Amino acid sequence: MGEGRFVVLEGIDGCGSTTQAARLVAALRARGVDARRTAEPTSGPVGRLIREGLGAHLIAEAGESRATFDWATFALLFAADRVDHNETVIGPALAKGAWVVSDRYDLSSLAYQSATAVGAEASVPWIRELNRRARRPDLTIVLDVDPAVASERRRRRGGQQEIYEVDAVQQRLATIYARAQDLVPNDRVVHVASEGPVESVARTVLAAVDPLLIGREGR
Ligand SMILES: Nc1ncnc2c1ncn2[C@@H]1O[C@H](COP(=O)(O)OP(=O)(O)OP(=O)(O)O)[C@@H](O)[C@H]1O
Ligand SMILES: [Mg+2]
Repeated sequence: MGEGRFVVLEGIDGCGSTTQAARLVAALRARGVDARRTAEPTSGPVGRLIREGLGAHLIAEAGESRATFDWATFALLFAADRVDHNETVIGPALAKGAWVVSDRYDLSSLAYQSATAVGAEASVPWIRELNRRARRPDLTIVLDVDPAVASERRRRRGGQQEIYEVDAVQQRLATIYARAQDLVPNDRVVHVASEGPVESVARTVLAAVDPLLIGREGR
């Protein structure tokens, strides 16, 4: 049994994180690695609550007009979801020697909640503190894509629109993701250009993961 690794895919909405997480897991399995795909927000109870907020579908009590949470509530919920994710999915899989590929992790919290915060700069250390119990990934891959390209992909994909899927927010997020390493200074962050065809992006993602595979085979 090999040693598990924890890889995270990140980027703006429509960067292809869901597509590439699936491709990476398939490629790892083809190499004989026990790899599992997971995502945040999770499909667990806290994740479901977050998704209702992201879709602006909160059920308001009589007389209340709001349909979503404010940024700080989101930061707390995402941090809670992440602790639960670590406890129930990521930790147990790694303990079995499996690889875990997560479609988003705490870099998303640092990016999205700071991008929408009142006082963006001050929000970052607080969000970091909230996520202190989140285990560190072995590698974070940021999929870089022009916000206009990502927007067009989302439009073609269709489906429910989420509260962050607004051009101004996505442009701010692209700027933040370009400096992702500053948000997680102690993590290993790699950028992958994600505007090409799915296949070629997948190859570059796999190449970024290669050093971890070599480490495993050398054991
Ligand atoms: N390299 C690519 N070239 C063209 N289309 C792509 C590429 N990668 C993904 N797509 C398509 O773009 C759409 C968005 O991709 P995907 O759902 O993987 O993005 P995402 O980053 O997970 O988005 P979100 O953040 O909204 O969940 C999908 O319809 C997908 O098939
Ligand atoms: Mg997705």
